[in-house]
Amino acid sequence: MKAMIINGSPRKNRNTVSLLKKVMEGVEESGCETKLVHLRDLKFSGCISCLACKIKGNTCGGLCALRDDLRPVLEETLASEILVVGTPVYFHYQTALTRAFMERLLFAPLDYVNAGSSTLKKKIQCATIYTMHVMNDELFANMSYAQTLGVAAKSLELLGPQEVLYFRGLSAFPDFERYPFNLEFAKILDSMREEHYAEYEQQAYDLGKRLVHQANTQHLDIQTNNVAK
Ligand SMILES: Cc1cc2nc3c(=O)[nH]c(=O)nc-3n(C[C@H](O)[C@H](O)[C@H](O)COP(=O)(O)O)c2cc1C
Repeated sequence: MKAMIINGSPRKNRNTVSLLKKVMEGVEESGCETKLVHLRDLKFSGCISCLACKIKGNTCGGLCALRDDLRPVLEETLASEILVVGTPVYFHYQTALTRAFMERLLFAPLDYVNAGSSTLKKKIQCATIYTMHVMNDELFANMSYAQTLGVAAKSLELLGPQEVLYFRGLSAFPDFERYPFNLEFAKILDSMREEHYAEYEQQAYDLGKRLVHQANTQHLDIQTNNVAK
């Protein structure tokens, strides 16, 4: 069993990737192989709407036809049993890197005959983790973060069951002294991180364990269904 872990942050050593690494620990300790991909390392674009993956008689098999650095990653993702996408929130959405990855991953297997379903013959256990600065519940609600980010992540349900985790109160700034910053606010951000980070790491680790368990259960379900037929 294999889990693809996609880092949609342009940074390879900060909030998102450190929580993704905790997910990987949980996955690996459950006996599943992992592969971490930093989207930033790849040269690729979003969907260019060439429709090659949709044309009648195409041989794409649910894989985007564009040939660039992302193609092997998409191929590996569709062959895996687990997919975890981690992204910082940038101006209320996923990062552009993450969005481009999702467009390329999801358009090819999207079935236009049976609207909303997938042409793939398998299910992938999916999860999205968001890391973000906003902690305040009122602001989180007023800006409709859960709705916006929930809908963006929901697209992954095309591939299989999906769960979404929000890790809030994580500033992009590693060291407030170096930047023009309201230092009162910086103190609040530092204390939020201190208060919540261990709990976030545990949640990420538990997610990894849960995903493997769910993927195993789903695999058994599929086998049982096959036997029943
Ligand atoms: C360009 C940019 C835009 C951001 N926009 C938001 C935002 O709309 N809401 C939010 O809560 N945090 C926002 N943040 C903060 C990041 O989402 C947050 O610090 C995240 O954990 C950074 O992840 P990283 O350390 O993996 O890069 C933004 C950060 C940057 C650099």
